[in-house]
Amino acid sequence: MYCMEKFKYWMQKRLNGDQGYKLLHFMSRNRIAGFCIGLFYGRNLSKLAILNHTDKHKVGRHEYMKHYQMHLSRFKYKNNNLLEIGVGGYERPDRGGCSLRMWKRYFVYSNIYSIDIYDKSPQEERRIKIFKGSQNDYEFLNKVIDYIKKPIDIIIDDGSHINEHVIQSFKFLFPKLNAGGVYVVEDSQTSYREDYGGNSIDLESPSTLMNFFKKFPDYINHKEILSNNGRNSILYYDIGSIHFYHNLIFIHKKNN
Ligand SMILES: C[S@@+](CC[C@H](N)C(=O)[O-])C[C@H]1O[C@@H](n2cnc3c(N)ncnc32)[C@H](O)[C@@H]1O
Repeated sequence: MYCMEKFKYWMQKRLNGDQGYKLLHFMSRNRIAGFCIGLFYGRNLSKLAILNHTDKHKVGRHEYMKHYQMHLSRFKYKNNNLLEIGVGGYERPDRGGCSLRMWKRYFVYSNIYSIDIYDKSPQEERRIKIFKGSQNDYEFLNKVIDYIKKPIDIIIDDGSHINEHVIQSFKFLFPKLNAGGVYVVEDSQTSYREDYGGNSIDLESPSTLMNFFKKFPDYINHKEILSNNGRNSILYYDIGSIHFYHNLIFIHKKNN
């Protein structure tokens, strides 16, 4: 792993930013290179992340992949529907799609769907379908769900990271997730950033995403919670478990 990061760093030093990006992008989109990457490293998500040039695995910054490996390996050989919010590359249509190709190579029998506020259609491939729209636009999300038709097994929110959007997307999309499915929220540190609608002073602020998800352990135990009239009447989501990591949250859905 270390060698691979060294090689990437060595290459990036010799090429200017745009050349380095284009080379890695070409490698990750090239069918033969992609096939070889999948063949040799298909079971190791951290290596796939580096080789597909996503920022989901960066030592000292985001080390998300070891958690993904632990939570998602049981889906590897299943026919899943995966939806990731955020293609990457922002307004540039020729950029991004790195994590989508990584998922495609890891989940060899799955369909990968994604949404982005910008047009990312050039990043589409066989088994990768992208929709243009915003993660907080319920009419648009409804069309996406109608298109996918089948329930979704894995949802990853790596979009705007605006607190309000993260909560709105969860409220709409979590009910569409299969029981047994997993919902992931990346970059949850924006909960503490004012420019994303977060709050770093009042850690109980009701509008932040961390406070939204901090209530979830109560939903796991909702049967044991009595309201004033002695009946369980709290609103809850079907939560099997919730896992908080550095800047990353996994929520497992279970009919409870
Ligand atoms: C961090 S990048 C995604 C990186 C990609 N998932 C990866 O791991 O390679 C965030 C993406 O979210 C998109 N985005 C920003 N606001 C959005 C919104 N409201 N709805 C959907 N996508 C949005 C941006 O255009 C950008 O391409």
